[in-house]
Amino acid sequence: MPPASHESWYATVLGGAHQAQGMMNFGLDQQFPEIERLTMQDADDIQAYVIAESWKAYRQSKGSPGATQ
Ligand code: HEM
Repeated sequence: MPPASHESWYATVLGGAHQAQGMMNFGLDQQFPEIERLTMQDADDIQAYVIAESWKAYRQSKGSPGATQ
């Protein structure tokens, strides 16, 4: 994911910046009760997960001995 996408993380995930393209605003209460609105902490946790997975994929692509599954 390019740096610009990380810089606009809150706007994308909590602010509905891509609603016109079809991505809902996860910072608002939803019409489906099983979907809870996300907090800033949730957004941070998801971003940390995305970054960790990206590093994992990068290390695997380089054949690094430190790569984990
Ligand atoms: C917590 C879950 C999600 C996260 C963290 C997330 C995050 C993102 C990010 C970072 C981007 C790229 C924005 C950019 O590059 O500026 C993006 C784009 C997009 N997302 Fe999500 N997303 C989530 C869930 C969803 C869901 C459930 C949908 C569809 C129902 C969706 C639809 C889209 C679409 C259509 C785009 C492309 C927007 C465009 O082309 O401009 N996302 N999302």
